[in-house]
Amino acid sequence: MAERSPLKRNQLIPAGYKTRKYLEQISEMPTAVSLFSGCGGSDAGLIKSGFEILMASDINDFAGKVYSKNMPEVDFVVSDIKKIKSFPRADLLVGCYPCQGFSNGGLREAERGINYLYQEFNRALQIIKPKAFIVENVSGMRRSNFIHLFDSQLKTFAESGYKVVWKVLDAREYGVPQERTRLFFVGIRSDLDVDYEFPNPTHALPGELSPLPPCPTIRDAIGDMDEWPEGEFDAQPFHWYYMSRNRYRGWNETSRTIVANSRHISLHPVSPPLKRITTDEWVFAHDGPARRFSYREAARLQGFYNDLKFPDEIGLKSRYRVVGNAVPPPLFAAVAGALPDIF
Ligand SMILES: C[S@@+](CC[C@H](N)C(=O)[O-])C[C@H]1O[C@@H](n2cnc3c(N)ncnc32)[C@H](O)[C@@H]1O
Repeated sequence: MAERSPLKRNQLIPAGYKTRKYLEQISEMPTAVSLFSGCGGSDAGLIKSGFEILMASDINDFAGKVYSKNMPEVDFVVSDIKKIKSFPRADLLVGCYPCQGFSNGGLREAERGINYLYQEFNRALQIIKPKAFIVENVSGMRRSNFIHLFDSQLKTFAESGYKVVWKVLDAREYGVPQERTRLFFVGIRSDLDVDYEFPNPTHALPGELSPLPPCPTIRDAIGDMDEWPEGEFDAQPFHWYYMSRNRYRGWNETSRTIVANSRHISLHPVSPPLKRITTDEWVFAHDGPARRFSYREAARLQGFYNDLKFPDEIGLKSRYRVVGNAVPPPLFAAVAGALPDIF
């Protein structure tokens, strides 16, 4: 029988691969530790780009349960990061510390949250000393109010011995049917003397003249799903805040950002479109049934194309929350797949 060639990091693992064949070849693969792993969006991307994940972790028990339902082969530790004292040795460290401070909160909240969490990430970096690391965060970190925190992270990681580059990427340019821009830091250990280059887009933005295939639409992502999946969407009334902006996109468009709060999730295209009345006030253009995207549709729009599985005990809001917090797997796969040949 012909010998099976080991998987290479840049070789994408086909959908549905991660069971028997994956486990057979796992010992040949470069290894990773994942922090702030959530339900595993970043990690599904890592696995797709050929990494074996030795340990994943998150403070949120719900996120851990969803993660383990989908990637049972990974050792998942539910804990506050600051209580984790030891980590396995690994080639790559990834971490997507939370972004609330940059999205909605004031400066003080951002200072408090980010200082503590990126320093915890840096502590793990200094213990593991991986060949490379990847951090994902919201693009708002580049705003002038927060720029000192951004600079301080670059400095901290450089002082830990890494050559660090950063870039804001649009998930739509990597095959995700959703407007979502995120900031990535990638560090390569300085002694390896290698540079990292961010991956080129694989998909064209809507309306862009380009030889690349167009970014998928809402229809491409969820067109085959039930039009009215009772019990799987947040059916609360559309309160004034919801109606203060346009939450509608049509079937042939890309989705707005999938958020973690189920009340703020955008409208499914079976709903009537919204029309603007005045500043911060929108109404349905005509009568008709309207609903938000379901949590399963939200997962597809995040790029979980293999359909995320959820344990029965996880409630509706928590399902939306872990999905909305996730990094789109195809985007993370693209960033991890562009790592140089150092493993
Ligand atoms: C942006 S989400 C990560 C998403 C995840 N990488 C994914 O792709 O699904 C940030 C995560 O950090 C977790 N988190 C927040 N504070 C934490 C802490 N002190 N220790 C560990 N995890 C924490 C949150 O529960 C949340 O799941």
